[in-house]
Amino acid sequence: MLPLATSTWDQKEYAALQSVIDSDMFSMGKKVAEFETAFARYVGSKHCVMVNSGSSANLLAVAALFYTKQNSLKPGDEVIVPAVSWSTTYYPLHQYGLKIKFVDICPETLNLDLDQLEKAISDKTRAIFAVNLLGNPIDYQRLEKIISNRDILLLEDNCESMGATLNGKQAGTFGVMGTFSSFFSHHISTMEGGMVVTDDEELYHIMLSLRSHGWTRHLPKDNRVCEKSDDPFHESFRFVLPGYNLRPLDMSGALGLEQLEKLPSIVKGRQQNAAVFMDLFADIPGVSIQKQTGESSWFGFALVFESLEKRTEVVELFKAHKIETRPIVAGNFTRNPVVKFFDYDIHGELESSDKVHDCGLFIGNHHYDIAKELRAVADLLKTHL
Ligand SMILES: Cc1ncc(COP(=O)(O)O)c(C=O)c1O
Repeated sequence: MLPLATSTWDQKEYAALQSVIDSDMFSMGKKVAEFETAFARYVGSKHCVMVNSGSSANLLAVAALFYTKQNSLKPGDEVIVPAVSWSTTYYPLHQYGLKIKFVDICPETLNLDLDQLEKAISDKTRAIFAVNLLGNPIDYQRLEKIISNRDILLLEDNCESMGATLNGKQAGTFGVMGTFSSFFSHHISTMEGGMVVTDDEELYHIMLSLRSHGWTRHLPKDNRVCEKSDDPFHESFRFVLPGYNLRPLDMSGALGLEQLEKLPSIVKGRQQNAAVFMDLFADIPGVSIQKQTGESSWFGFALVFESLEKRTEVVELFKAHKIETRPIVAGNFTRNPVVKFFDYDIHGELESSDKVHDCGLFIGNHHYDIAKELRAVADLLKTHL
């Protein structure tokens, strides 16, 4: 009755794919470049680098901070993260030898608890990897005040919150870099895809090199990474940074261009559903819903119940009625076995993260009107809770 995710594609996306097929040039080229320019313009950033996933965007952003000429990150530096996010928010931090400090989330917004964050910051804190969960931006005005006098880098994992705004500014543009995903179930879909945006030219140039084998070929002549000669032969295979190959296909760029045209109406559709959702679910006893900061782009609708038993019952009930559900992202991430590999600390208690882990789930939101389906879900909960 209510799927988790549906396609936002129509003939335009298939035509975009065909245009790349007709060009007979499939590897990263002019469509990706066009999309990067359009996406940067859309979110109001100076630069955008497209990669093959949101996870790769996080990897690229974290990696880039290790290669700046000044103030670069070093292994062992402390990075604060919310305890609830997706696995690949954390993995690049682990892979670069950073010390991960988990902080609890706010039970209402489901984002970093800013009171706890304030207490968790220490002299060792070099960065905060903030996450905008399920479409909802963090209160960056307050976050910026908290870190204003300190030498702390702010990074934003905005992979779930494309199109969200706070006082008219796009989520993903508050920190030194912001990451986005265009995986199928997200606001726009290139099926697989991700972006990093930044206003910082040096980080942009570093990412251009790291995305493509760490070579110089994609760097402009005048760049902030290295001296580049005018000899294309020499510069075709010259390596300056220990990078990756994270490039998307040109088809991803072509798809991104079409999807970006639709993004305003996709976000509007999701926000209209959210207004219905809030109206229907705000007062159902035994259920709490996510409180938005600014204008959420409502990735999905989180529901937190009073107990693990209730959540288990509701999962079964929803399954029987074909309402697709998922846990709230990765729950309290420190309860996933993989953290045994991390160098990490937990600040205080993770009470709200545990609550979400044990008692929470989310249902899908879509770009089209789902008022009828939401009404049915609300009625179902009212009769069963
Ligand atoms: C918060 C967050 N960060 C990163 C990612 C990774 O994005 P991708 O699936 O495109 O690799 C996701 C995926 O949904 C996510 O939810």
